[in-house]
Amino acid sequence: MHAPIPRLLAALIAGLGLVGAAQAQKAEVIHWWTSGGEAAAIKEFANAYTKAGGTWVDTPIAGGGGAQARTVMANRTMGGDAPTAAQYNYGKQYEEIIKEGLLNDLDDVAKKGNWDALLPEKIKNAVKVNGKYFAVPVNLHNENWVWFNKAVLAKAGAKEPTNLDEMFAAMDKVKAAGGGVVPLALGGQGWQEGITFRGVLLSVGGQDLYLKTFKDKDVSTPGFRKTVETYRKLKGYVDAGSPGRDWNLATGMVIEGKAAFQMMGDWAKGEFVNAGKTAGKEYGCFMAGGPKMAYAIGGDVFVFPKQKAADAAAAQRKLAEMMISPAMQVAFNNKKGSIPIRTDVDTSAMDVCAQAGVQAVKEGRLLQSDNELLSPDAKGAFEDAVSKFWNSDQSVDDAIKAMAAALKR
Ligand code: BGC
Repeated sequence: MHAPIPRLLAALIAGLGLVGAAQAQKAEVIHWWTSGGEAAAIKEFANAYTKAGGTWVDTPIAGGGGAQARTVMANRTMGGDAPTAAQYNYGKQYEEIIKEGLLNDLDDVAKKGNWDALLPEKIKNAVKVNGKYFAVPVNLHNENWVWFNKAVLAKAGAKEPTNLDEMFAAMDKVKAAGGGVVPLALGGQGWQEGITFRGVLLSVGGQDLYLKTFKDKDVSTPGFRKTVETYRKLKGYVDAGSPGRDWNLATGMVIEGKAAFQMMGDWAKGEFVNAGKTAGKEYGCFMAGGPKMAYAIGGDVFVFPKQKAADAAAAQRKLAEMMISPAMQVAFNNKKGSIPIRTDVDTSAMDVCAQAGVQAVKEGRLLQSDNELLSPDAKGAFEDAVSKFWNSDQSVDDAIKAMAAALKR
């Protein structure tokens, strides 16, 4: 008997556009931030969005480095079931879905927010496709960091290193000290083996060798050969539990003093932060290529697929504006381990490792990364070749041949 009244009310509310507005606030976000530090960081986004009246629908897809999440995103978007937003890395990963015409561009949000003036030139180049913003950049990560446990090194009588050569010396001391401490905590998965390889590459030949390899696709240099040889040397410092290990478990080994070092992007710092540890106190860091090394542009963007519901674009704009807002850039990046993407926020309170990154940006020491230089296909093939070499006794010559072929794809 009372049924008609609610129906009438519903019709009235819909007529006033309130239902539309409420639906516009709903945002499903696909991402691969499932470790402790990562989850704490994305919560900053989710909480802010909720506070602003939105409904955050979280769709985390486990798998460090994001290959699994990107597959889900591609399948859903191509299959007509796109989320409101999805995470990618800088570079070419989302070019294909742009070509298919599946993404909304953010040029109006960027114009309103003055992104062109706020973002460092090289970051702009890494984000923009055909001169348009199809993604909001949320951080700057560098994958080529080395993390170490200070107490472990002190106990082994090892000097805290500032480059890879010194790290080898420190690992020898840790090995000699015994006690079951693993010198190098490596997560034996292709993408992590790839990060470790690129860290060695930068350490051996700096930015020139990096660009020679990934831009010119030339692996015939003595530096590249030395990289492959040095990479193999690292095997002598890794434990038997390495194969298949997730990156954050490897970080956990360093945090707990079960291992001395990890070579990993500064998302690892998010794990230290989440465990209540302070950079420079319990743990230290250095860039694999040394303190003056170019900062390989890494990190995350969110893209916004076209939606059937006409009002979904409002939720997407709201998300993008929130993610890049000054306050959020500080709160989010402090937890994530990365540094803010905009140059107009106060970074003076950030930790000593982040300061090295901030300094690199100030000095323009930013390097186009392999994600920007290689197609996803070539990058995958190269990492497969690196992984095969790492996990077998393949000769250096054969490995170099396989890596050359991968880059030609
Ligand atoms: C992303 C980071 C993430 C890491 C591990 C990288 O590709 O840029 O944000 O924490 O993968 O999952």
